[in-house]
Amino acid sequence: MSTTDGGPWWKSAVIYQVYPRSFADSDGDGIGDIDGIRSRLGHLRDLGIDAIWMSPWYPSPMADAGYDVADFRDIDPVFGTLAGAEALIEEAHRVGIRMIVDIVPNHISSEHPWFKAALASPAAKERDYFWFRPGRGENGDEMPTDWRGEFGGTTWTRTPDGMWYLHLFTPEQPDLNWDHPDVRAEFESILRFWFDRGVDGIRIDSAALLFKDGDLPEVREGEPHPFHDLDEVHDVYRAWRRVSDSYDGDRALIGEVWMPEVERFAKYLRPDELHAAFNFDFLGCAWDPALMRQCVDRTLDAHRAVGAPATWVLSNHDVTRHVTRYGREDTTFSFENNLDGVPVDLELGTRRARAAALLSLSLPGATYIYQGEELGLWENENIPPSSYQDPMWARRGHSRDGCRVPLPWSGDEPPFGFSAAQPWLPQPAEWKDLTVQAQTGDPTSMLELYREAIRLRRDEPGLHRPSFGWLDVHPQVLAFCRGAHFACVVNMSGAPITLPDHETSLLASGPLDGDRLPPDTAVWLRLQ
Ligand code: NOJ
Repeated sequence: MSTTDGGPWWKSAVIYQVYPRSFADSDGDGIGDIDGIRSRLGHLRDLGIDAIWMSPWYPSPMADAGYDVADFRDIDPVFGTLAGAEALIEEAHRVGIRMIVDIVPNHISSEHPWFKAALASPAAKERDYFWFRPGRGENGDEMPTDWRGEFGGTTWTRTPDGMWYLHLFTPEQPDLNWDHPDVRAEFESILRFWFDRGVDGIRIDSAALLFKDGDLPEVREGEPHPFHDLDEVHDVYRAWRRVSDSYDGDRALIGEVWMPEVERFAKYLRPDELHAAFNFDFLGCAWDPALMRQCVDRTLDAHRAVGAPATWVLSNHDVTRHVTRYGREDTTFSFENNLDGVPVDLELGTRRARAAALLSLSLPGATYIYQGEELGLWENENIPPSSYQDPMWARRGHSRDGCRVPLPWSGDEPPFGFSAAQPWLPQPAEWKDLTVQAQTGDPTSMLELYREAIRLRRDEPGLHRPSFGWLDVHPQVLAFCRGAHFACVVNMSGAPITLPDHETSLLASGPLDGDRLPPDTAVWLRLQ
């Protein structure tokens, strides 16, 4: 498992997110599983990725699709067994693919033995592992704070003994008390459990939320936030870094840090903390040359300041798929700005998504691919609300299920080779043209574009160096070079533009018109 630039793999890897419920189902229950992933590893090898990030696969009541973990040291039966997970890690390594598992430290499942013990007796030591507090008001029947949850809604639930417990997400996800040494020790032991099994990295869920202000102040404009990004969190990641550094190989810690202030974001990436973090600034950025350019500059500056690699992320299991986003008039993404049902031009969205693939795969740093993005899947916005499973739906009126629909592998109708049964979420009939089978060998397909781009990324020396510089081509064109001989040009203007002087065009996201680059199209050039 070599890397392109000789540095540690996580600095320049192509990392593919597997959402296990929706990748491939081996046992015919309509839900994806580990043996399904093992049977389809060839797809990932052929795609050329460097690593898999596996969304949670642990035993869970699935109140939040597995982000409510009941046991971090085992596998949910719906996905398989621990032996199967170990076999997958080994088989992935054998074909040159590293493995990253997802750890959720902010909260656990209400079915976790710790929370059950805490509920069973107010005297239990486990009580202190959580945030149990008396209520306000004469009878204590008002919540301790008015904090709004991350999915919307309230953040406290009352227990039969009259106390309240904190949950920033659903009531089935009680928040842990990170001031308690047992909580810290337990998670370090969980990291070791997975590192001992050979995993190469850990993705850290909700990484900025762990600590809370024990005085429980309300959230007020201009005052320190009571549960976002408290300074103590950095001690935890320093301790985790000591754990990851104690293993051989380059084990990486990758944080899910949603943070608009880049300086505070970069603090998580100081040399003794996390190795990398997801770039949600890029993910949410509009398809707009000036804004994109600012975003790229902001990203590179912030990362350079702490010596960390940038990451480039277009989609994941929480956000509207980018084919859909880029096909709307408003091409931004944020949870606050719900665009469900706003008209989409899927052809335009697909054209831009193809260009975005070349952009995100040629910027310096690591690039993330969310499963199905290599097939050009769009958000399924036609799932009947009665089939929604996402707890966000009830709290915020937006469901993340539309981006979690099972992958289409082959055939002309659902379940498209995903399973022998109907999948847990419905697949659009139109995906018959987007199956892996239909796209393989078609040079105009999204899948072949990704395969070729990832292959070139490996072979092209310019893409292995950290160097980066903007090229002045046209005000509405994003153009940059990587070294003296490689350039990426993305036309975000509404009209064709003339390409800068070059030796060869290596790869284009759509047909070129002689030496003219059509709108919403990107090209990789070898410069003279
Ligand atoms: C972020 C995860 O990506 C999301 O899916 C989950 O609902 C929340 N964290 C809570 O764990």
